[in-house]
Amino acid sequence: MTERATLSTDAVLLGEQLRRGAPIEDDDFDALLSVRPQVFSRSFWTPVHVARVAARLFREAGASSVLDVGSGAGKFCSIVSLVLDQRVWGVEHRPSLAHESRSLARRLGADVEILEGRFVDLDARRFDAFYFFNPFAEHLVPKTHRYDQSVECSLESYVRDARCVEGWLTAAPIGTALVTYNGLGGRIPTSYVVEREGQLHGNAMRLWVKRTDVAADAFIELEDMLLAASYLRRCEKEMGDDFPFARDLLVRELMNER
Ligand SMILES: C[S@@+](CC[C@H](N)C(=O)[O-])C[C@H]1O[C@@H](n2cnc3c(N)ncnc32)[C@H](O)[C@@H]1O
Repeated sequence: MTERATLSTDAVLLGEQLRRGAPIEDDDFDALLSVRPQVFSRSFWTPVHVARVAARLFREAGASSVLDVGSGAGKFCSIVSLVLDQRVWGVEHRPSLAHESRSLARRLGADVEILEGRFVDLDARRFDAFYFFNPFAEHLVPKTHRYDQSVECSLESYVRDARCVEGWLTAAPIGTALVTYNGLGGRIPTSYVVEREGQLHGNAMRLWVKRTDVAADAFIELEDMLLAASYLRRCEKEMGDDFPFARDLLVRELMNER
């Protein structure tokens, strides 16, 4: 049997195991990826177990159209599609990763649609659920820690994307669900309520559901903490130079209204 034939047989088997809920190691799943996405998997893509838990949370929230915001190699989209047996969408601005995701989904038999492009160009109104695995983090890490140098990464692009997502969440109807893993990295209007919260692989996962149209404030996930923007502003006022985030340009940007 050729190597290509073995790989495609492995993919079909893995797809079946995901549907059945059988145990799967990340290394076995990642072996389906091309070399570069495989090398970056540990730090860039959601682990299999974490994606399965997120899928259960989306099911619990009654989500029917889930968008993975910054879908990378499509690992999350394919797993959640197979677990929930429904179509899952991703948006990804790196064409090579959009291509990788489509090929992965095809081989696994997952129903995945990847929208190639940037968050700011997307109409998010067609989705009732969003997944965020800290998609903006790469904007602030040193060049050597980025996936590649093909996209713009800066504090300005971070803030632009985070404010764009805040706009989606503000405009979304009541009942919209979010799952954040390792933090969304931006402002979440207080019209969203945390319904479930836990630690997985050392990172916080939260299920949020929009319960009202009124949001007088915003939450910011900082490490494992969940803080209100108004609380941070008050701390800054009272603590002056002793404010722990006095030098953190991002926190100071996010804690303020637009
Ligand atoms: C940490 S990875 C998460 C990948 C995937 N969600 C997962 O959990 O396996 C974040 C991804 O978001 C993508 N991304 C970041 N900013 C983006 C933007 N403005 N528009 C589209 N994709 C973006 C990056 O290229 C990267 O693939």
